[in-house]
Amino acid sequence: MKSIVTPDTNAIEKAVEVLKQGGLVAIPTETVYGLGADASNPDAIKKIFAAKGRPENHPLIVHIGNIEQLNDWALDIPDSAFRLAKQFWPGPLTLILKKRPEVPLEITGGQDTVGLRIPNNPVALALLKSFGGGIAAPSANRFKHISPTSAHHVLEELGSAVDLILDGGSCTVGVESTIIDLSGSQPRLLRPGHISISDLESVLKEKVCLDNKSEIRSPGMMEVHYAPTTQTLLCSKNQLPALLKELSEKGKTVGILSYQYHPTNKNITVIKMPELQTQYAQFLYASLREMDQLNLGVIIVEQPPQNEAWRAVNDRLSKATV
Ligand code: TXA
Ligand code: MG
Repeated sequence: MKSIVTPDTNAIEKAVEVLKQGGLVAIPTETVYGLGADASNPDAIKKIFAAKGRPENHPLIVHIGNIEQLNDWALDIPDSAFRLAKQFWPGPLTLILKKRPEVPLEITGGQDTVGLRIPNNPVALALLKSFGGGIAAPSANRFKHISPTSAHHVLEELGSAVDLILDGGSCTVGVESTIIDLSGSQPRLLRPGHISISDLESVLKEKVCLDNKSEIRSPGMMEVHYAPTTQTLLCSKNQLPALLKELSEKGKTVGILSYQYHPTNKNITVIKMPELQTQYAQFLYASLREMDQLNLGVIIVEQPPQNEAWRAVNDRLSKATV
């Protein structure tokens, strides 16, 4: 079992050493914890795929420490990329750009584009600065499972597969970064996140294409992803009483992530989710994880609002539920 370390100067130095030697470091970001490796070292990158049990043809995001480093990884960078970077970095936004020829294909899953972002977390930024290069990091969870939002989640999830876990506390955003593809003729949203479509459009001054049916291999686009092990259902407030009755008649133990409907039946485990979208997103994965550990028959998520502000949360819920 590997230890979780407090990210003081010593720990950052140690983490840099691990990265330089081709090891894996779990890093806190504002979205979720990442499983980091030296992005210029194909052997180190292979370890990420092995630790996650993720197919090798799924691309990884390269985390960088400053905007100038975009040029180390990408080619033909449109002006729009720099405008978005200046506005939203460090922050929960990933840009997909044409890759430089020397970027390892292990990172891009064989594609000619690369995903880049500067995370907004002091520990991640200190590590990136000390390390100097790019850190490839997918979310630090097993393939298809819930992303970790605390150092303990990473330990539970990946244990000894990680050489060092930097503890940066709980993630403040809680869902993975917004991904926008700027490698084509029109900006295209590949994954919704905390940075909204209108945030993007206000900087781009053009429409963002939402049709993400494409050949791009993006695990976040698969139908079941971010999922607990326990069967998880999404249900509207109106349909909840009937569903609860049906499940209790079948003798199933039930847990609910409730939004407005708060059952008082003692046999039902309830986690009251925050009403504010940003707080809901922050606690979503930790709440699903907590429920998943109770070995319940079924987890029910009460459907939160379905408007634009809730797009990222609803995207993740639709992939966590059946
Ligand atoms: O917030 C985040 O983005 C977190 C933190 C750790 O930065 N990372 C994360 O990584 O969520 P991951 O690997 O779990 O999801 C990254 C997504 C995947 O769906 C991947 O396919 C997509 O980014 N991606 C990466 N490079 C891509 C590329 N060149 N083209 C299309 N999609 C890409
Ligand atoms: Mg992931």
